[in-house]
Amino acid sequence: MDAYSWHIVNPDAPRRVIVTKELPGTRWIDILTAADCRVEVCTDEAVLAVERIRAAIGGRCDGAIGQLTEPWGEELFAALAAAGGRAYSNYAVGFNNVDLAAATAHGIPVGNTPGVLTETTAEMAVALTFAAARRTGEAERFLRAGRFHGWLPRLFLGDLLHGATVGIVGAGRIGAAYARMMMEGHKTHVLYYDLHRNADLEDFAVAYARFLEARGEAPVACRRVDTVAELLEASDVVSLHTLLDDTTRHLIDAGRLARMKPDAILVNTSRGPVVDEAALVAHCRRNPDFRAGLDVFEDEPALAPGLAALENVVIVPHIASATRWTREGMAVLAAANVAALLRGRPVWNRPDVAAFLGDAPPPAAPSVLNAEALGLAVYGTD
Ligand code: DGY
Repeated sequence: MDAYSWHIVNPDAPRRVIVTKELPGTRWIDILTAADCRVEVCTDEAVLAVERIRAAIGGRCDGAIGQLTEPWGEELFAALAAAGGRAYSNYAVGFNNVDLAAATAHGIPVGNTPGVLTETTAEMAVALTFAAARRTGEAERFLRAGRFHGWLPRLFLGDLLHGATVGIVGAGRIGAAYARMMMEGHKTHVLYYDLHRNADLEDFAVAYARFLEARGEAPVACRRVDTVAELLEASDVVSLHTLLDDTTRHLIDAGRLARMKPDAILVNTSRGPVVDEAALVAHCRRNPDFRAGLDVFEDEPALAPGLAALENVVIVPHIASATRWTREGMAVLAAANVAALLRGRPVWNRPDVAAFLGDAPPPAAPSVLNAEALGLAVYGTD
């Protein structure tokens, strides 16, 4: 292992865990050291190649915490299993970088970090929505370039979103949180497309509409639609909150972009490949009133040719989950996954993992994606 790129904590502990990037906060380190782990943290900011991670796993490694930028597949899980590894956690809620079948075949449980990203990511989707609607990137560049010579009635006209229709593709935790923020904060109507009905979101909308009506204000409405096409055609804003898999890759392609209103806004805080980025560039060029707000990109960190030059696109570098609270919470959950699995503890029994952030975390692994496939014990059951 390259000694200059790795920071070692608790060097004499019997278990060895590698962490492929420095994580925020310190509690996650305490969790691993309390579980008798020597923690080896890569201090290098460059994305680690598979070969380098394999070298870091070496001949003996009990567990690993990896990043969404690393392809954790057959090669790495085989290496981890051969080194005696019994636990892996992604430092992410998303797990499209992980080959779950390969991990399961090698008997390695795979953790992720749900729950703590919900509000933070939804807030970024809201921020991108408004940045696109009100052209803040474009306006800031204009101002910084010294081109502002005084208030003008037609300077940077944008779109009012109060009362607009917002379409959400994927109404899971983050999508639903975004929908609520847009309804409550900006009185938008919501359409959503999801394989499952989100009764909680619909009930909230009904109750909120009654509240508004009782105050003499126009009510909001929330409705599930049967097709993505219906949502695209009817929405002023479309925000993507799906998983990335074979069914959602290029879900938004040239054909679907053409179905959107010419002055609609497309927001993506899910995964880059959900959008055909080259098609989006072409669409934005042809439709200057169309706008996009993007946190994720098809071939990160590269951008599709022409994207960065488009004035009608707002772009940020995959930072939707980047609040201190969330990123520290993700670190705690990833460490708790690995520590609990190495101690042979069961897997938590509910989607709500807030208990792991408190002072008395349950003796369980917060979230393990292949727990059932591996037949792991569930907390609270005999
Ligand atoms: C995740 O956790 O999947 C996010 O993309 C990180 O920002």
